Amino acid sequence: AVLAASGCSKKDEAAPADGAGVKEYIVASDAAYAPFEFQNDKNEVAGFSVDVLSAAAEKGGFKVKFVNTPWEGIFATLEQGDRDIVSSSVTITDERKESMDFSDPYFEARQLIAVGKGVAGVKSFQDLKDKKVSVQTGTTGDAVVQKLLGKTSPDIKRFESMPLALKEVESGGVEASVGDNGVVINYVKNNPGSGLATVEDTQSFKPEFYGFAVKKGNTELVQKINKGLAAIKADGTYDTIYKKYFGS
Ligand code: ARG
Repeated sequence: AVLAASGCSKKDEAAPADGAGVKEYIVASDAAYAPFEFQNDKNEVAGFSVDVLSAAAEKGGFKVKFVNTPWEGIFATLEQGDRDIVSSSVTITDERKESMDFSDPYFEARQLIAVGKGVAGVKSFQDLKDKKVSVQTGTTGDAVVQKLLGKTSPDIKRFESMPLALKEVESGGVEASVGDNGVVINYVKNNPGSGLATVEDTQSFKPEFYGFAVKKGNTELVQKINKGLAAIKADGTYDTIYKKYFGS
């Protein structure tokens, strides 16, 4: 059956599909964030977050349709009603909680430093104090680097996607980048010629938890997602998905 949902209509009351009263929600993902959200060879949005939310939807009794959406402005799509859920490795933060609601956490992450080839002496986050650093605009990586270098520092180079931020290290435009560990590790693994090295700093970087974001006040949807998440954590589905992307 054709679902009535469209990417640009107001979707506060998502259309019932198949007459079964199953709502379909439009999901925003910045699909340049492997292995969490990326475009597969069929040009579909795929990845860990996609599998988790899709499985949770099945158990929670709703449908999801993923739409590749630029990170910049991604949260505004909730306000505008173009998207119902942001599934984009979004770290749950107190600041964001003021303007949107989050599901329960579905993944634990941490910032990680990527250091360029031939750049010596970076053993901790502090060592970036006198370096040029790239980040993806408006991420938690951007926020930590701002704390170290200053909000308006010319040494912070901001990019619209994480791959672009990491390419800048590769090409020598900056000495390092700071971003979510899973994505940095994936990039280094898949670009063996990049020469990038990774540096952990579990003192400076605290654990972060990814959640699915919805428009503030949409408790009905949060509850459905949480019900589905609890079910897939309990029945082993979550673990199976985790192993598929990250090994045991
Ligand atoms: N976890 C980080 C944050 O919430 C980065 C997320 C970026 N996600 C993406 N798909 N580009 O700020």
